[in-house]
Amino acid sequence: TTTQVAIIGGGPSGLLLSQLLHRQGIDTVVLERQTRDYVLGRIRAGVLEHGFVELMREAGCAARMEAEGEEHHGVYLAHQGRMDRIDLAGSADGATVMVYGQTEVTRDLYAARDAMGGSVIHQADKVQPHDLKSQTPYVTYEKDGAEHRIDCDFIIGADGFHGVSRKSIPADVLREYEKVYPFGWLGVLSETKPASPELVYARHERGFALCSMRSQVLSRYYIQVPLTDKVEDWSDEAFWTELKARLPKEVAEGLQTGASIEKSIAPLRSFVAEPMRYGQLFLAGDAAHIVPPTGAKGLNSAASDIYYLYHGFLDHYKNGDSAGLEGYSEKALARVWKAERFSWWMTNLLHRFPDMSEADLRLQCADLDYLFSSEAAQASMAENYVGLPY
Ligand code: FAD
Ligand code: DHB
Repeated sequence: TTTQVAIIGGGPSGLLLSQLLHRQGIDTVVLERQTRDYVLGRIRAGVLEHGFVELMREAGCAARMEAEGEEHHGVYLAHQGRMDRIDLAGSADGATVMVYGQTEVTRDLYAARDAMGGSVIHQADKVQPHDLKSQTPYVTYEKDGAEHRIDCDFIIGADGFHGVSRKSIPADVLREYEKVYPFGWLGVLSETKPASPELVYARHERGFALCSMRSQVLSRYYIQVPLTDKVEDWSDEAFWTELKARLPKEVAEGLQTGASIEKSIAPLRSFVAEPMRYGQLFLAGDAAHIVPPTGAKGLNSAASDIYYLYHGFLDHYKNGDSAGLEGYSEKALARVWKAERFSWWMTNLLHRFPDMSEADLRLQCADLDYLFSSEAAQASMAENYVGLPY
């Protein structure tokens, strides 16, 4: 097979790029290790920046999101017995966020790829990029026991944190920066009415908690847990009891509980790989960077990479101008590091670290008190939360 852009990874990053390029007449093949059902079974992000929403429109995939997603104009931070609200729309040029799950984004992207006859190959094993420094790179993989080869102009590594792409960059070129946090998030999805009409991020002495949602009949909750905890340690009842203990009384009292339909623990990590380009290979999304989930920036940072790649490829193929692709790594990383900063800041603001001193706790309270005493600080939080410009 021959294509213009071979994309490794059929998660949101890979599918979105494939869809955007195909609409502009640029040919792609997506190679995904898992089945479609497996990819759609993963419950992950839920909050989309306004720039992401725009990109879904550009991709021709926004109809269901616009009908079923919820536009949110604010978020709450619960702390020190108070419920303070960040007015997103009022502080950040009127921009808002869209509450619409990653699962649904991915489902819509698959549907759009099907409708256009896009090539998405599932259960592609042993995917391997080759000859990255040449003008004739290629990708090999196995499917149903047979070996295949795709010749292409460019390869996109959109294969997540554990993918093969980043590992294909020589160790003497790749630099990796990492922070690991001493706790994880236990997440529960339940078919219940959300506890609050807007998201509630709660700082509490028992640990962080978050009330989120997928719709008015589907809630998503998270609590900070020690890394040693296992999902099996947490019955639904234990989860609801602990969640309520960490929420302000008025939120806890209105909390509707029910059977969990998904329960999982995710570790928290900050990670950046540089550069994001090596020869004809371009990394995008989780393959190049991970944020702790507190700022809802994981999926959104993947989308900004795709925005830069999309425009880089348009310039390259339509105008013979490669400046966008040449500058990709630098441009993408500048925005990624800001999302890393914001996610690290929100994580520090709201979590209970095992080794916190009295001084650390006072500083955390002062950070929150400052935030809600300064319109400038609230505007800063709002502009980061809705998403910095691409
Ligand atoms: P992925 O979604 O990881 O997609 C990569 C794809 O590549 C996968 O489908 C994978 O199967 C495939 N792949 C991997 N290796 C290979 C290979 N060798 N060959 C072929 N295919 C391969 N973000 C938030 O904002 N909020 C959240 O609550 C949140 N929760 C999360 C929970 C978990 C457990 C995880 C892991 C992430 C979470 N994130 C969250 C982050 C967010 O989901 C990611 O940033 C987003 O999925 C990135 O999309 P991606 O397409 O770059 O990578
Ligand atoms: C969700 C996850 C987040 O990390 C976040 O900051 C907000 C919402 C969610 O899964 O709904």
